[in-house]
Amino acid sequence: MKTIIEPFRIKVVEPIRMTTREERERYLREAGYNLFLIKSEHVIIDLLTDSGTAAMSSEQWAAMMRGDESYAGSASFYRFEAVVREIFGFKHVIPTHQGRAAERILFSILCRPGHIVPSNTHFDTTRANIEYVGAEAVDLPIPEFYKPSVYHPFKGNMDTEALRALIRRVGPERIPLVMLTVTNNSGGGQPVSMANIREVKAICAEYGIPLYLDACRFAENAYFIKLREEGYAEKSVREIAREMFSYADGCTMSAKKDGLANIGGFLCTNDDRLAQQEKNLLILTEGFPTYGGLAGRDLEAIAVGLQEVLDEDYLQYRFASTRYLGRHIAEAGVPIVQPPGGHAIYIDAGAMLPHIPPLQYPAQALAVELYREAGIRSVEIGSVMFGKRDPQTGEEIPAPMELVRLAIPRRVYTQSHIDYVIEAILEVYKRRETIRGYRIVWQAPFLRHFTARFEPL
Ligand code: F0G
Repeated sequence: MKTIIEPFRIKVVEPIRMTTREERERYLREAGYNLFLIKSEHVIIDLLTDSGTAAMSSEQWAAMMRGDESYAGSASFYRFEAVVREIFGFKHVIPTHQGRAAERILFSILCRPGHIVPSNTHFDTTRANIEYVGAEAVDLPIPEFYKPSVYHPFKGNMDTEALRALIRRVGPERIPLVMLTVTNNSGGGQPVSMANIREVKAICAEYGIPLYLDACRFAENAYFIKLREEGYAEKSVREIAREMFSYADGCTMSAKKDGLANIGGFLCTNDDRLAQQEKNLLILTEGFPTYGGLAGRDLEAIAVGLQEVLDEDYLQYRFASTRYLGRHIAEAGVPIVQPPGGHAIYIDAGAMLPHIPPLQYPAQALAVELYREAGIRSVEIGSVMFGKRDPQTGEEIPAPMELVRLAIPRRVYTQSHIDYVIEAILEVYKRRETIRGYRIVWQAPFLRHFTARFEPL
């Protein structure tokens, strides 16, 4: 059969409340044109994030009933730990309430002011947690990464020459770890190849620097390797994932993505001494090491989710639905990051709205327009999220790309929902020349995109 169907039936439904354009206009004004500040009941299709938004399976709900809520030594923890060890292969598994908690613990132990943490591209919370402890987060993607329309099978790869040059320039003692984000979320959900992971590991090993994977979308990355990298077509996604992690010294994980759970995360390492330090800090802010800020039932949901996400029928459907959205809007002329990523489609708002300068936030303008048109919530990944200030002049420096991300929650929307999204995007595309930019009227000192308020120009 050519038609790829959703490999599940629907057992519980959640109603969507429809809104009118007038209502949406009012919600936008009240939210200061920041889609993070809109109530979810006022959203028709929510593509803000694929994080924590998955629909759980009947097996996950069943497992939740088994949740052991003991403070110490919970049976749920040991089931969770066994699954994580089996798939990821690390010795120590430290549960956290979500990915950024794992990041905070890791960076507050390993990083000091003056340190530099290179990555293919840091996600916003990763970057912020590194900067918060006074270290510097450096992105070293391959040059193709910054060219949205250019096809590359592994656009998430790290530029290994640039990594070598950085280590030589600053010295390995200033680099406490190197990270690879799989898949690379900030610029298209693009995968990292096994060859690249291996090469980065070899460089790290040469200088005695640990390599960490930011593993949120590890199953999607592994499936891309299976589809695109020579020598992996016959391997299972589980085997590929296992090989990916075999090159790493540890990982941070948000189980809200490829854990198919609504909350949770973990931190892994093979280093006994580091694990002890991490657990000490965990107890201080997250909880005892056998629950780490989660309920026993959450650990159960993650343990089942991590196995379901490796099901290749699921991954085939997942990629088919993302590709379907990307193909239909790209064929009509909408510029998107090519090729489509695993979890999301990224519209190149810079190319679609060339009349709006970067510091009038074209991607923010497009995101607002999609909400106004059809109640679709997406997220700006451009100068609002990643703009910087020149430390000398105080002048705002725009981000390298102005993207709008349409992230697809796992197992939540059907093809007709996606058809609705396509129609809305094409309507907005037709009237793109009439769209105006925005200015920021209030912002927080870091992670400003979550709370900033805007005014149309
Ligand atoms: N790393 C990556 C690559 C991520 O995409 C995220 C979260 C995190 C770390 C942090 O995990 O949210 O559990 O604390 N990304 C979400 C997103 C929020 O919308 O892409 P968290």
